[in-house]
Amino acid sequence: MHSSILSIRSSAVAHLEKVSNIADLIEWKNELLGKTGELSSILKSLKDATPEERSTLGKDANTLRWEIEEMYEKKAAEIEEQKVQEKLHKEWKDLTERKDIQTWALHPLTLVINDVMDTFTRMGFEIWQAKEIVTEYENFDSVNVPASHPARDMQDTYWIEWGKYVLSTQTSSQQNNILKSRKPPFQVIVPDRVFRNEDIDATHDNTFYQVEGIVVGENISLANLKYTIETMLKDLFGKEVSIRMRPGFFPFVEPGVEIDFSCPFCGWSGCKVCKKSGWIEFMGAGLMHPNVLKEGGVDTQKYSGFAFGFGLNRLAMIRYGIDDMRIFMHTDIRALRQFAWK
Ligand code: DAH
Repeated sequence: MHSSILSIRSSAVAHLEKVSNIADLIEWKNELLGKTGELSSILKSLKDATPEERSTLGKDANTLRWEIEEMYEKKAAEIEEQKVQEKLHKEWKDLTERKDIQTWALHPLTLVINDVMDTFTRMGFEIWQAKEIVTEYENFDSVNVPASHPARDMQDTYWIEWGKYVLSTQTSSQQNNILKSRKPPFQVIVPDRVFRNEDIDATHDNTFYQVEGIVVGENISLANLKYTIETMLKDLFGKEVSIRMRPGFFPFVEPGVEIDFSCPFCGWSGCKVCKKSGWIEFMGAGLMHPNVLKEGGVDTQKYSGFAFGFGLNRLAMIRYGIDDMRIFMHTDIRALRQFAWK
């Protein structure tokens, strides 16, 4: 290559190394290839050169022109890539990172479920994982809820497939599965989410949590039920709590009872939590109906059982003094944070 072209080339290469943005790069190219650029002036001077020099110089100048074009394209692509990388780096967001969640903050329902599971596990209960979509048979027929029962009403139940599948409206929907898969004696609880087509207000939600419990064995009586529930409440509130039973109707039990417990906050003297009555309405329970036991393949001559079901949301509300059930399912976690410490 001609020496003057070579010197333009080496200074162009050196200069290019310092270029770091598109504007400078364009200027770099213009200085070389523009009308008044270095290469152009060489080409202009060709007319005074000897024919030999003209041919080598012309050829070399053209070669350099293509090289410069190539260098330009390559550098422009590098600068563009650099820009993209910087942008990616600056604007990168980890969508799984939630700075606003503090790791110690467990949902109040989780806290209560954990404590309930702890107590029952210590009493020898097994924990059964329910399904949220169940058959009409599981939810209703198998637990002695006949087709004419108002609980099957379209207003209450979310039907997934009419006459076939529903969103579980009660954890009692697991009773039949448990009975069929265990041999007495056994004791099982089912803490899970249930769904009802409710109008939502401070004390009702369409999605809430229940705990079902069944105990099947020889000579199981209401006395066993009373002891079990009292033990759980004592554990949960950290003090002696009395319960009382009132007659109540539930299709899956006979006799059926409603259980209230003595207000752990005021000890019968009356307060806001117990609405000045000294008692808190808590759960439905009873001795398992022979129809339910038989449907689950249990020999009713030999075995009996008790069953109970209570709402966890209500229990959490009582425990933490929450007066609006809607916060449990609400996406505004500020409300939930308040209870995390307790
Ligand atoms: N499944 C009932 C409900 O959702 C609660 C219930 C009441 C469960 C009595 C039981 C029971 O096991 O014996 O309202």
